[in-house]
Amino acid sequence: APRRKKIYEGKAKILYEGTEPGTLIQYFKDDATAFNAQKKAVIDGKGVLNNRLSEYFMQGLGNIGVPTHFIRRINMREQLIRQVEIIPLEVIVRNFAAGSIAKRLGMEEGTQLPRPIVEYSFKNDELGDPMVSEEYVIAFGWASQQDLDDIVSLALRVNDFLSGVFYGVGIKLIDFKIEIGRIWDGEFMRLVVADEISPDSCRLWDNKTGQKLDKDVFRRDLGSLTDAYSEVARRLGVLPAAV
Ligand code: C5P
Repeated sequence: APRRKKIYEGKAKILYEGTEPGTLIQYFKDDATAFNAQKKAVIDGKGVLNNRLSEYFMQGLGNIGVPTHFIRRINMREQLIRQVEIIPLEVIVRNFAAGSIAKRLGMEEGTQLPRPIVEYSFKNDELGDPMVSEEYVIAFGWASQQDLDDIVSLALRVNDFLSGVFYGVGIKLIDFKIEIGRIWDGEFMRLVVADEISPDSCRLWDNKTGQKLDKDVFRRDLGSLTDAYSEVARRLGVLPAAV
């Protein structure tokens, strides 16, 4: 039986009431889903790896002054986070064509893009997270123009940081998704990187071999997802005691 009040359960994570006001506990499950949950599996150890990896990236971002929701890791599967108001957007940054952009524009996967491209999807499972334009975001009031400017700048800082960290361990950051939250301090609002940053939400290719080290391994049945994520963790020196 859960020890704490469950606030929300998603596909890969559960949020519980936190230990202090304004906090939540984020629990990483082993569940993997793809194609809007049409494909499902339980992958032993995935939650442990993603908890560690997300801690590593969020802490690294914090160290260079990019605000995140991360407070501290509690145990193998849980971390304490700031409670935020999630903006209902998936903010995607792409450096190389892959996945939906490759399909949409008929590009070969791996083609370098002229510059990092930021795009948005509306977070809605029933609709399969449809891509939306800035016009939609502002017209429907999901974020203001100022928010969007700040979101783009956050997303590009995250891209610079992650690209560099991965490049250092022989991995090409093809693309990734982040979510942004609002934290209110009286009438003042700040935007922070929320949710998770892990191989579930990035495309990571080995620089030399092109081997995929991300959730495409699961989406496309390319082998063991745990092996792929463990390899990322090993290269970064993020080593869970046991998976
Ligand atoms: O599928 P697509 O090419 O649009 O995905 C771009 C990036 O965003 C990929 O790294 C993918 O893993 C991530 N993504 C995600 N959650 C979604 C959709 C995409 O993490 N719901």
